Amino acid sequence: MSSEKPVDKLTKAAATAELKRLAEAIRAADAAYYQDDAPAMSDADYDALRQRLTAIEARFPEMKQADSPSDAVGAAPVGGFGKVTHLKPMLSLDNLFTDEEVSDFIARVRRFLNLKPDEEIAVTAEPKIDGLSCSLLYENGVLVRAATRGDGAVGEDVTANIRTLKDVPDKLKGSKGKEGGHPERIEVRGEVYMTMSEFAAFQDAEEAAGRKRPANPRNAAAGSLRQKDPSVTASRPLRFFAYTWGDVSAPFAQTQWDAVKAFKAWGLPVNADMKRAGSVDELLAVYHSIEARRASLGYDIDGVVYKIDRLDWQQRLGFVSRSPRWAAAHKFPAQQAMTQLLGIDIQVGRTGKLAPVARLAPITVGGVVVSNATLHNEDEIARLGVMINDWVIVQRAGDVIPQIVRVVEDKRPKDARAYKFPTHCPFCNSEAVRGGGEGDEEVDRRCTGGLICPAQAVERLKHFVSRRAFDIEGLGAKQIEEFFEAGVITAPQHIFTLEEQIAKSGRPPLAEWEGYGETSAKKLFDAIDKASEQPLDRFLNSLGIRHIGETNALLLARQFGSFEALQDAVAKAAKQRPNDAYRRLESVGGVGPGAREKLLDAAADLPAKPPVSADDTLESSLGGIDGLNKKARAAFAAEYGDWETLRDQVQVAAEGRPGEDLLSLAAINGFGDVAAEALVDFFAETHNREVVQALVKKVKVLPHKIADTSGSPVAGKTVVFTGSLEKMTRDEAKQQAIALGAKVSGSVSSKTDLVIAGPGAGSKLADAQKHGVTVLSEDEWLTLVGKS
Ligand code: IVH
Repeated sequence: MSSEKPVDKLTKAAATAELKRLAEAIRAADAAYYQDDAPAMSDADYDALRQRLTAIEARFPEMKQADSPSDAVGAAPVGGFGKVTHLKPMLSLDNLFTDEEVSDFIARVRRFLNLKPDEEIAVTAEPKIDGLSCSLLYENGVLVRAATRGDGAVGEDVTANIRTLKDVPDKLKGSKGKEGGHPERIEVRGEVYMTMSEFAAFQDAEEAAGRKRPANPRNAAAGSLRQKDPSVTASRPLRFFAYTWGDVSAPFAQTQWDAVKAFKAWGLPVNADMKRAGSVDELLAVYHSIEARRASLGYDIDGVVYKIDRLDWQQRLGFVSRSPRWAAAHKFPAQQAMTQLLGIDIQVGRTGKLAPVARLAPITVGGVVVSNATLHNEDEIARLGVMINDWVIVQRAGDVIPQIVRVVEDKRPKDARAYKFPTHCPFCNSEAVRGGGEGDEEVDRRCTGGLICPAQAVERLKHFVSRRAFDIEGLGAKQIEEFFEAGVITAPQHIFTLEEQIAKSGRPPLAEWEGYGETSAKKLFDAIDKASEQPLDRFLNSLGIRHIGETNALLLARQFGSFEALQDAVAKAAKQRPNDAYRRLESVGGVGPGAREKLLDAAADLPAKPPVSADDTLESSLGGIDGLNKKARAAFAAEYGDWETLRDQVQVAAEGRPGEDLLSLAAINGFGDVAAEALVDFFAETHNREVVQALVKKVKVLPHKIADTSGSPVAGKTVVFTGSLEKMTRDEAKQQAIALGAKVSGSVSSKTDLVIAGPGAGSKLADAQKHGVTVLSEDEWLTLVGKS
């Protein structure tokens, strides 16, 4: 699009042409949003298109097209909703797929709460509705605000639209505070959905009105809720089930079961199919009963949601990342269909992994059109024995990427041909090699092109601007690709000097680019400006460091507080990386850290010649070292073969032990040495340091905001738990300490403030005494934090 002419300067001919173009663009955007569930532009840009269309039509009413999108009442959802910060974040659910995973879920709960094997755990089970979740804020029993889930923290204000739903009461029944009454303030949460029959009728009506048939009830419900004009939402058959809550001013029940009963008493619709079970077997029976009735429920469901019934237990269990430990979704088995494999494309991700993607003849699987499926890696292709043009069974489960389950061999066509996995990156032609990763990553082939590989670079940039990272409105994957191709943004720091970058490239100003105008260009620059302050954890996540995703980024932010402190710690740790000899010693199988340390401690004193031993074997020569058991001696002997080699190698290893700073980085609770080393590796790379330096000149990295733990006696303190605890499990104790603003570490050093030692505490207790660190019993700890 060239820059926009003021409407009153348009000629009739230009107006006609522009109306046609705008109508096409709006229809395409509608289709992307509704049918593909993949918005092609930002809400702001979409609004700008519609506004321009309306303005031109108002100026030239006679030029208005008969099928103008401005007439299609509520055809499209609109942006421009206000933002709402949820009082408590809206969580998502972990998925369970097998009976075994269900029993593991219950076992985890039992372990976390430290319950006896025979203590009953009551669990509610109810259908998992395939709609969209909404949060309804009631104050003094009156609906004051309704919001979509958004990113879990911030959603869109859809109050006016939600008010049009017959299922949603404006006022709760019963009186505030009274027995059985509603609390003064509560965020009621549930699902907005369409029934199957109403959805089918809606599909037909849309088609009859010349619009595309919406693909599934969830898309239809989401589009219907996000209407500018509430009367359009009112005309759509939307329904609501309440199933949980967020913020609440006072407790109103002791169990999930009673809470939902209370919802019902207040006049909120709840699901009649909720059951309560007391064992895994009962839970599975409920699951199978709901599964058997799935087709006759009248609305689309994709599984059964389990919730621990006791609310005090829910409270103690808390959540990890974005999912509660006290709930899970048991998904129905995947749906399958047969189609033909047309080809295999290779995508290269930001870590250089070559990901094969099957291109399929489009096929409907459980109501959704599938034309791609993941093939994971070359081993998977070999395991399936799949050839190009083969007939294959594809399967889709929930929102998981579709997969190929098997080849239908007796349908193998004559023109089927074998596929050869590339050994070079299809984007930069660098060699792609296997191995080098840890554990199961060995199966991946990675492009060695690193910084010269455009595919990796563009994927890293997409990650940088993604929703959980810099989250810049109007700068998504599509725009990143465009700017990257134009050579305007090739590194993250270029985003913050976009105007200059464009000028440098010799291109016209952004407002003159296709798809932009003055308004949208300005909006983008404003959005970039707004994004140039970021909390530490988001900033760290955006860098795309291997093994440092959202969870680890948050751990680091909590631990170090500021980016400077983190950089200092990494710089220190970098000087303390173990040497190769140490790594060799570490890799000796069947030997624990204790034995390894004994050998390292003895290294300096090992004589040049082996001590005389009865049978002259290396194993027995090692008998002189204190505390090495037979198994460890045998393992070391097998690794090094003779005394001289062992002595040399172990002495070098002792010089190259990882230092305290690196160890303490790895010892951040839940972090581990793989992540610690990945972090150090990242900052060891000159290019990465340059990017980070350039970035922090443009971006203000905000110090980590600690939840309000003022008044907490342990805020900012570093604590270590050791030995067994009796009143709570180790995991629970750690979570509690973190919630109170403490840092939890796995090793004791002079920087430790408190060690909480239970029975059986060993070396950590000794370390505490060595460093003069205060040691508390579990009861003393509970008294200190006011939980006894
Ligand atoms: S409970 C922390 N109950 O599933 C509790 N969610 O995958 C989270 N959903 O975002 C919600 N039916 O949109 C719950 N009976 C049900 C549900 C349900 C559908 C959706 C909800 C949630 C998503 C999580």
